[in-house]
Amino acid sequence: MSEIVRENKVALRFQPAAGRIGAIVTGVRLSADLSADVVEELNKALLKYKVLFFRDQNHLQDADQEALASLFGEPVAHPTVPNKEGTSYTLELDSNHGGRADSWHTDVTFVDAYPKASILRAVIVPESGGDTVWANTATAYDNLPEQLKQLADQLWALHTNDYDYAARRASTTPEEVKRHREVFASRIIETEHPVVRVHPETGERTLVLGHFVKKFIGLSVDDSAQLFSVLQNHITKLENTVRWRWSAGDVVIWDNRATQHYAVNDYGNQHRVVRRVTVAGEVPVGVDGRRSVTRSPGSEHGASA
Ligand SMILES: [Fe+2]
Repeated sequence: MSEIVRENKVALRFQPAAGRIGAIVTGVRLSADLSADVVEELNKALLKYKVLFFRDQNHLQDADQEALASLFGEPVAHPTVPNKEGTSYTLELDSNHGGRADSWHTDVTFVDAYPKASILRAVIVPESGGDTVWANTATAYDNLPEQLKQLADQLWALHTNDYDYAARRASTTPEEVKRHREVFASRIIETEHPVVRVHPETGERTLVLGHFVKKFIGLSVDDSAQLFSVLQNHITKLENTVRWRWSAGDVVIWDNRATQHYAVNDYGNQHRVVRRVTVAGEVPVGVDGRRSVTRSPGSEHGASA
């Protein structure tokens, strides 16, 4: 456990939550009034652990969560889904209205400068189930065999919000499918990203995949699907993951440039409401220095061509 004792003698502590990812943070009451040194320590820990867990932050309201996000950068709204009423940047995920993100993804990778961080706050949690799992995409790359690293280094992938929502889920309701088509994919956005991104702050190489990937540039849909499974399965190996059992009032901040996550959909008709604020990110850069490009839908140019 690392410990930073501040002037007021309250210890900010980081307790690793798993071997390769995640730390439980104690000794801090989250708010917009955090001092610059605390924000700096949290940022450093975020880069190291990728996911930070905070319990007992029940005092936070929507506006507080948005103000907190502004300490880490520029809060940014979802590109297609309307904000929760009365908020400027907040995305509400309500299990009663299709808010069940039960497939592996990095947030909003269908745009070029996708968020660098996401801040998720639990408002209503099931009595059991509804955990979230995160995976470390830097250790996933690090642990690839050398031959797969070399292959991944050269690959680019097309990400889109126009994926086949129903086909990716074990079960969907007609309302969920309708919401996906009419809200989430109301405006189709496609972006070509390098499969291996150089992290702008740590210099680590991270894998950029997840459920928004439509295909690899230059490969057929069939080859893409098989190769995607090979690489994606390396990311989600249990050794790269940490799982969080939510309580109402918990806040989790993750480095969205170095992680994927999955909301476990095992709670049936129990109610789950979480609210997310994202912080603007940078356009990814591949190992050869080329930057991600947003395309008009259907105009794949082939980044590797
Ligand atoms: Fe997500």
